[in-house]
Amino acid sequence: MLDYESYKNQLRRLADVNFAAAVLSWDQETYMPAKGADHRASQLATLAGLAHAQATDKALGELLEKLQADASLDLVQQRNVQHSLRTFKKTQKYSAEFVEALSRAISEAFQAWQTAKKENSFAHFAPHLEKLVALRREECEFVGYEKHPYDALLDEYEPGLTTAEVEKLFDEVRTELVPFVKAIAACKPNSNAVLQKNYAKDKQWEFGLYLLRLMGYDFDAGRQDISMHPFTINFGSNDVRVTTRVDENDLADMVTGSIHEGGHALYEQGLPESEYGLPSGEAVSLGIHESQSRLWENNVGRSLEYWNTVLPELKKLFPEQTAGTTAHTFFEALNVVQPSFIRVNADELTYHFHIMIRFEVEKALIEGSLAVNDVPAFWNKRYKDYLGIDVSSDAEGCLQDVHWAHGSFGYFPTYSLGSFYAAQFYAAAEKAIPSLTQQISNGDLLPLREWLREHIHQYGKQYSARELCERISGEPLQFSYFMKYARKKYAHLYAI
Ligand code: CO
Repeated sequence: MLDYESYKNQLRRLADVNFAAAVLSWDQETYMPAKGADHRASQLATLAGLAHAQATDKALGELLEKLQADASLDLVQQRNVQHSLRTFKKTQKYSAEFVEALSRAISEAFQAWQTAKKENSFAHFAPHLEKLVALRREECEFVGYEKHPYDALLDEYEPGLTTAEVEKLFDEVRTELVPFVKAIAACKPNSNAVLQKNYAKDKQWEFGLYLLRLMGYDFDAGRQDISMHPFTINFGSNDVRVTTRVDENDLADMVTGSIHEGGHALYEQGLPESEYGLPSGEAVSLGIHESQSRLWENNVGRSLEYWNTVLPELKKLFPEQTAGTTAHTFFEALNVVQPSFIRVNADELTYHFHIMIRFEVEKALIEGSLAVNDVPAFWNKRYKDYLGIDVSSDAEGCLQDVHWAHGSFGYFPTYSLGSFYAAQFYAAAEKAIPSLTQQISNGDLLPLREWLREHIHQYGKQYSARELCERISGEPLQFSYFMKYARKKYAHLYAI
């Protein structure tokens, strides 16, 4: 037991350092004055160095090995130790030279990407992308994998997920969702004009706070601020902050962004405080995290029932803009399906085509079957095939996202995974709470939050994503839940 206490204390000190760095990052994105940037960068680097030293301390490794053989630990403790040991061993595989080379390549690539995007010049970014792909390929080899090198990269964001599993999901997207969207395109289009009127910033802000309170976000354990890109950040489950942004001429941006981040935040607020700094006090994976944001944003926030609840409040704040509208007006407007070039603006159906294309590019780059210089052509052909649109510039094409410039490969699939998990979890919640739809219509969202707490949040990393999914729904992740959700909802919206 003494050993476990010692392990716990070491992990908590490590968490203290990491969360202190997170506070500085939050400040950097919200309130830091421009001149603070230089010292802030060195403050963050110093803390990262401290955290790295703690995380790779040899004594910690020995302690973990010892604890792994300790039969007196309970199941939660064993699980914590297993996770920590796995992380420790993985970290050991990275040489200081590699970490340094990668971090340098990323800074340079990020700079080059900004210019490349502005000047619509893929050639400017290509050598940097080549360098990053080479480093990641090297990483796959020293980290190790069973079947496909890309597995090693997926594992970083979605532990245990394999390339073959992602391929299977996207095969179904290709055979089912692509033709479904084509059928929608042939229908009479819906309008989203009601969202594009002028909505004053201060009142939008008020509405956003109302939406967060409604879903049960705890303002005594968090706060909301403005940032360029919305995000959620936590320093333990009793301090979970969200940010949003407000566009006066697009109500949807704030509304969907606030609900999305609210969903992430509920997950963090629902993690067990007693497990601070330990794996069982942390989220399972990016895919499960994203399932929480998307369940709230899409399954709840873009539903007719939800708009029955929130429209009266919006009408109080914006009587002119909402005159003559019903919940159905907003239900239609928030669910307009329209193939487009930019991933972050995509609707919840075509969104997955954007992700599928990025996955195909990444997989091909990592296995070596696609040369960096051929990325634009590869990309554009798939936008034509899946979305039916002609990409006219790389700035609006393969240069649009920051992820590759940040050296992130294997991240994109977790976005789609999030939606697919969300559909499967939501189906289970509907089964468990027969009056769920009625509750949402009545503005009673707390039973849903409690259900998510009980079945997902409270466990932290005690169960893997696969185990969690099987416990909740009786089977591993299946694309069919998403397709069923989509067919039901959009058949209604587009009278297919
Ligand atoms: Co998210």
